[in-house]
Amino acid sequence: MKSLLDIYSLSFSEIEEILILAENLKEILGRPIPKVPTLRGKQVLLLFYEPSTRTKFSFERACKVLSADLMSFSAKGSSIEKGETLLDTVKNLCALGVNLIVIRHPLSGTPHFLSKHIPIPIVNAGDGRHEHPTQALLDLLTVKEKLGTLSDLKVAIIGDIKHSRVAHSDILAFQKMGSQVFVSGPAHLLPEPKEQAFFEIKPRGFRVCYKMEEALKGADVVMALRIQRERHGEALIPSLLEYAQTFGLNKKTLEIIKEKALLMHPGPINWGVELSFELENYPFQVILDQVENGVAIRMAVLLKLLSGD
Ligand code: CP
Repeated sequence: MKSLLDIYSLSFSEIEEILILAENLKEILGRPIPKVPTLRGKQVLLLFYEPSTRTKFSFERACKVLSADLMSFSAKGSSIEKGETLLDTVKNLCALGVNLIVIRHPLSGTPHFLSKHIPIPIVNAGDGRHEHPTQALLDLLTVKEKLGTLSDLKVAIIGDIKHSRVAHSDILAFQKMGSQVFVSGPAHLLPEPKEQAFFEIKPRGFRVCYKMEEALKGADVVMALRIQRERHGEALIPSLLEYAQTFGLNKKTLEIIKEKALLMHPGPINWGVELSFELENYPFQVILDQVENGVAIRMAVLLKLLSGD
């Protein structure tokens, strides 16, 4: 692995290796002084062109635990405001001695573009509506920990599938690990036939359900997603209230999932829209476990990409 650009390019074994490494690294996070010198002398650049709480801070924490040095870039206040291009910005920052770049960018394919021009590892921290691979890896780790397996599960993903990079990475990741994925949401927020074919990985496969109940019935894992209104361009749902009434999850709609099925959300959550307030205390809700696992996953990815050079 030279870079982590997407889940699409990862094999079953590569995903499994990252998960096993992350499971082992969690021991460090439980120590009284959670710090090891493994990446001492390495310089990591966090290049975020979009807002982030979980991803950015868990990469920061992962770097600090592994003793890597951090450079954090935000477009506001940089020479981008004077017209400097992305590539020039990155080349100049690399001249300062960067060993790895973590990038979040609103344009799909930006990490892939950089990886063609920059000779150091690139980690995709979310590119447009394309993919968010470290989110899918931390979701896999959470399910593996809680259910003991990643195979033969029914995974239901509910919401704005078409515009969600998390959905795209999770659809691929869970299928690659041997589970079947069912997605549901408003019809115009579901993937079109060409996209459906792209995301289908046989033999487990991926199903688009126009009725939410079909996706939820007997599910082992339910993932709710935020409506990505910043990527719609035009209004695609009449109102959040109407969305909450038709595709919002609550205790009643979850009655048909398996007993002890996990309830997940990548965050940020709009409580009262995709999840009802009553689900904050749902016993099998693992949203903060996902956030916690983000640190171990990002440590594993940094180690895999940096410890070899
Ligand atoms: N899940 C996720 O990517 O959250 P942030 O946007 O806060 O990083």
